[in-house]
Amino acid sequence: MACGTGNLSLALAARFPDAELTFVDAAPAMLEVTKTRLEMTHPQSARRAHFVEARFEQLRLPSATFDAVVSQMSLHHVEKKGALFLQLFALLAESGAFCFADRMIGGTEESQAASWQRWVDHCRRNCSEAEVVGLLEHAQAHDHYASLADHFHLLESAGFRGLDCAWRDWAWAIVTATRVASRPGK
Ligand SMILES: C[S@@+](CC[C@H](N)C(=O)[O-])C[C@H]1O[C@@H](n2cnc3c(N)ncnc32)[C@H](O)[C@@H]1O
Repeated sequence: MACGTGNLSLALAARFPDAELTFVDAAPAMLEVTKTRLEMTHPQSARRAHFVEARFEQLRLPSATFDAVVSQMSLHHVEKKGALFLQLFALLAESGAFCFADRMIGGTEESQAASWQRWVDHCRRNCSEAEVVGLLEHAQAHDHYASLADHFHLLESAGFRGLDCAWRDWAWAIVTATRVASRPGK
């Protein structure tokens, strides 16, 4: 979902060379970059791949057909995450999994303030002041962050089970969920 320039897409093609991959992004230019990079690095995967120009909110993909739906640094663009999770749940086959990495807000005002400040400091160390202002304005205008707890709540309401946070580093988290609950081992 939202392949962008294909960073995660290429890693997926390398890790799952026999998979039939479908790449979705709202921006045709982004799809084109991913397609070109995939053709250059994983031509066999590229021949089997599907490229779908669509906003998440208007996805028209066949139900119950995907073994996995993955996304990186993109879902914060979606305001109505509950509706999106319902759609993604419907796409998954019985044993399917959903895995996404994204920025989260903190669970408390204090943790959010500390995490945000850390990000702004990081930006200031690596970007010009004009770029930092641009990033902050972009975030204000386009981004819709939610806490990890809110993500879990919305995922569970959409039907997902086996919810987990596989990794977390301040604002960044990787969340995994499955269509059907598997029994945890002892
Ligand atoms: C920050 S990039 C992440 C790209 C990629 N996942 C990566 O990790 O390199 C966000 C991507 O989301 C896409 N995007 C933003 N809003 C979207 C939406 N509502 N539906 C589909 N794609 C969207 C943008 O076109 C862009 O390619």
